[in-house]
Amino acid sequence: MKALLPLVLASNLCSCETLPDRSALSHGTLTSKLFAEPDALPSQMEFGLADKGVVVLASSGGIGRGVATEFAREGARVMLFSRSEEKLSETADAIAEETGNRPLFTVGSITNKDDVESAINRAASEFGNLWALFNNTGGPPAGTFEQFDDEAWQSAFEVTMLGYVRAIRAALPHMKKGGGGRIVSNTSVSTKQAIDGLLLSNVFRSGLVGLGKSLAREVGPDGILVNTVGPGRIDTDRIEQLDTIWAGQKGISIEQQRSESQASIPLQRYGTPSDFGRIVTFLSSEANAYLTGQNVLIDGAMVEAY
Ligand SMILES: NC(=O)c1ccc[n+]([C@@H]2O[C@H](COP(=O)([O-])OP(=O)(O)OC[C@H]3O[C@@H](n4cnc5c(N)ncnc54)[C@H](OP(=O)(O)O)[C@@H]3O)[C@@H](O)[C@H]2O)c1
Repeated sequence: MKALLPLVLASNLCSCETLPDRSALSHGTLTSKLFAEPDALPSQMEFGLADKGVVVLASSGGIGRGVATEFAREGARVMLFSRSEEKLSETADAIAEETGNRPLFTVGSITNKDDVESAINRAASEFGNLWALFNNTGGPPAGTFEQFDDEAWQSAFEVTMLGYVRAIRAALPHMKKGGGGRIVSNTSVSTKQAIDGLLLSNVFRSGLVGLGKSLAREVGPDGILVNTVGPGRIDTDRIEQLDTIWAGQKGISIEQQRSESQASIPLQRYGTPSDFGRIVTFLSSEANAYLTGQNVLIDGAMVEAY
C-alpha cells in the first residue's frame, strides 16, 4: 500500500537527488537515523516494511491472519504463531498464494513462556532482524462478575495480558539492537466503553492500554513506537460466537442479531480482517514516525465515547 502525494508534487520530488535510497530503509542504522532526523524522511509515504522481520501472534485465523496477510503484502518477513499446526500451515499457504510472500510459522500457545520466546527469537534469527510485533490472543470467556472464580481470573490474566508482556520482553532487545521498531497490541473497544457480559475483557484490555502508554514513554528514546488497537466488530469466528450468544439472550435469530448489529455501526457493516490489517500495517511501518502511546479504535465509529 502506497499513499502517494498528488502526482505533480510526487513527480517533482521523485527527481530530487537528495532522497534517501529506499532499498536501504530496511536497515536498522538508517532507521534510527530517520527517527532522529525527521527532515530526512522520504517525501512519498513508503511503508518501508520490505524484508523487515515481524511476528504476528494468534495468527492462524481472524484478525491475526488479516494482519499477517497485509504485512506479507508489504514484503515483510512474517512469523505466524498459534496453537494449531494444521491451521497455521493452511494459513501460510493461503497468504503465500495471495501475496507471493510465504510466512514461516511457529506452533505454540501465548500462555506458554517458552513458546512465545521461541517464536520471537526464531523470527529474529531467521529474518536477521525483528522490526515489528503484533500482540494478539484468543478472546477471554464471556460472563459476569459472579460467574468467575480465582482460576478464571488467573487464566484470563495469562491469556490476555501476561502473554503480551512476555512477547514484548523478548522482542525489545532485538528491536533495540536494530535501532528501532514497532509494537502494536490488540485489545478491544471495551477499552473505551465497557461491554456488558464481557467483564474479563473490560478489565484486562484496559490494563493493556496502560501498558502501551507507559511502554511508549519508556522506549521512545530507543526509536520504538508502541500503540494499542481496539476492534469493534471485525468479521471473524469470535464475532460469530458472540453473535450466537447475544442472539440466544435476546431470543432472535443469529441472522437478525448480525443484521441489527451491522446497522448500529455508522459504516453499516462489520470490518474485515483486511481492513484491520491495513491499519496495523501502517502503525507498524516507517511511515508512522510519530504516532505512539495511543489507543486506536478500529470500529467504523461504533463507539460513541471519545
Ligand atoms: N473480532 C472482533 O471484532 C473483536 C472485537 C473485540 C475484541 N476482539 C479480540 O481480538 C482477538 C482476536 O479476535 P479474532 O476475532 O481474530 O478471534 P478468532 O477469530 O477467534 O481467532 C483467534 C486466533 O487466536 C488464536 N489463539 C487462540 N488462543 C490462542 C493461544 N492461547 N495461543 C496462541 N494463539 C491462540 C487462534 O488460533 P489457534 O486456535 O490455532 O490457537 C486464532 O488464530 C481476541 O482476543 C478477541 O477477543 C475481537
